[in-house]
This record gives sequence, structure tokens and C-alpha cells, in this order.
Amino acid sequence: MNSRRRFLSLSTLGTVSGFSTLKAFGQAKRVDGPIVLSTWNSGIPANNRAFQVLQEGGSVLDCVEKGVNVIESDPNNRTVGIGGFPDEEGHVTLDACIMDERQRCGSVAFLQHIENPVSVARRIMEDTKHVMLVGEGALNFALRNGFEKKVLLTEKTLTAWKKRKAEAIASQPEINVENHDTIGLVARNADGNLAGACTTSGVAMKLHGRVGDSPIIGAGLYVDNDVGAAAATGWGEAVLENAGSAMVVELMRHGRTPQQACEEIVNRIAKKFENWRNIQVGFIALNKAGEIGAFAIQSGFSYAHHSGGKNQLIKSTSLLNNA
Ligand code: GLY
Repeated sequence: MNSRRRFLSLSTLGTVSGFSTLKAFGQAKRVDGPIVLSTWNSGIPANNRAFQVLQEGGSVLDCVEKGVNVIESDPNNRTVGIGGFPDEEGHVTLDACIMDERQRCGSVAFLQHIENPVSVARRIMEDTKHVMLVGEGALNFALRNGFEKKVLLTEKTLTAWKKRKAEAIASQPEINVENHDTIGLVARNADGNLAGACTTSGVAMKLHGRVGDSPIIGAGLYVDNDVGAAAATGWGEAVLENAGSAMVVELMRHGRTPQQACEEIVNRIAKKFENWRNIQVGFIALNKAGEIGAFAIQSGFSYAHHSGGKNQLIKSTSLLNNA
């Protein structure tokens, strides 16, 4: 882009909705060094791995992928990857996506038998002309590309599924499932570049074929390297209906801090989603300057923040104070 066109495009960006994007970033409290931010207590081991990848010279994309891989491969986590809770027919079906600093993205939905769906999403992003593959097509792509076919249903989740089936407990919002849920992880490397990843087994006992927010670019995850990155967790339908993560990034573009942006979208969901009092939805956000934010509907949401050599689990603020 020549310098005049670039100046014009930045000027246009900077005046949307009366906020000055460039001025807003100028005012932000800059945090130096790499930052990794992720959802729930499973964010702690994910952040550790993600940070290690950066220290070993990996890219910010490697960092977000390898970080969430740790949780996908943990059979004791029943909301992500292997060991994830099955749908109402007893199938473990996984959703995931990934996005890098060049606005490239990859996504898989309704993927069965593959332990690390986010890595399949990355291969789609890097090796095909497409963004998203689903179901059998996604599985065949993964197998052709060297991913191993595995049984994702563990003894533990099979037993839990049989019990729920016997009790005819259908899919319903579960608030703060065992203090974890979908893992969303966003990061900024030492060069200031952003990336994000999001991965889940979705809502327990969901209808066979149901896809939530997590593999949908703009809903479960969004990254804009000029602005910031955001990820969502919780009841995916409410996030989908409000294009949650893209909205958080857009609000940051228009001058909100990450905290203000997360609060605004959670408030919007509460206004527009009829059953909002009975669901959990949480967002995390990171801007280009390294400021972070998080907010949820219900109390009990936590997030892990790795910055300045410390990896800490932080309790999120929330709209309702009920836990
Ligand atoms: N947020 C995960 C899902 O609703 O599937």
C-alpha cells in the first residue's frame, strides 16, 4: 500500500463511532514482553506450555496451538478433546479454530476421533484454500494428513454418559462445569504479534450434529493484529447470536479497553438472550498494548494470565454475583 493510501485508511479507522483508535492505543498502558491469556483453571498448564514455546523461539501461532493441545490431550478434562463429554447419542464430537496475526484462520467442527482438533484447524488454514471443514470431510482430511484415529470416549465419560442417559438428563446449560469449559487462549509475542485458539467438546448431551460458537470465527474467537484478540466460553448459542468475540475486538478497535469491551458484550447478551440468567458466558480479551480484560454472566469464571514471568489464575468479575 502506498503511503497516501495507508494514511487514508488509518485515518478512516481512527474515527469510527467518534472514537480515535490510534489515540486510544496511545493512551493504553503498554505492557512489555510476551503475554498469554486463557480461560478457566486449565489455562494454567496451557499458558505454561504456550509460554515455553515462545521461549524456545516458536511463533505466536505455535504458542497458541501447543498451549491448547495440552488440554485437548488431557483425558481428565471432560470439556475438551479426548475425554470430552459425548452428545446425546454417545459420540464425542469436537469443535476448534485458530487464527494468526495475518488474519488467516482455520476451523473444524463436528470432528470425531481426532485428539487435537485445533491442529487439524491449523493444517486447513496453512495447507488448503479453505477456512473450515466439518464432520466426515474434516476427519478424512485429518487422516490424510497423518493425524491418528483414536477413541475419544474414556471409561469415565462413558460411565457419566450412561448415567445421564438412564436419568434422561438432556442437554442443558451447566454453569461453570468443574471450573473449566471451552479453552480459549490468546497471546501476544515479544514482537507484538497476536494469535488465538479455541477448542471444545461442546455442550454435554447436545443433539448429534450440534456445533457451538467455538469453531466459528468471530464467535468463539477473533484476532485482529491491528487491535487485539478475544475468546469466549460458555453457552455457545448466546455467543453465536451476538458474534461475541468479533464484537469484543470491534469494541476495542473503537476505543474500549479490553475490560470495557468484555463487559459491554456480556451486558448485550444479557439484554438479548432470553434465558441469560441460567447460562454462563465468559470472555477474555487482550489488546495490542498488552492490556487484558475478562467478564462473565455468572460468578465463578476464572482465567489464567501469563505475563512478566508470572502465570496466575484470576477470578473474573461478573454480571451476577451468585456463586
Ligand atoms: N462454548 C462451547 C459450546 O457451546 O459448544
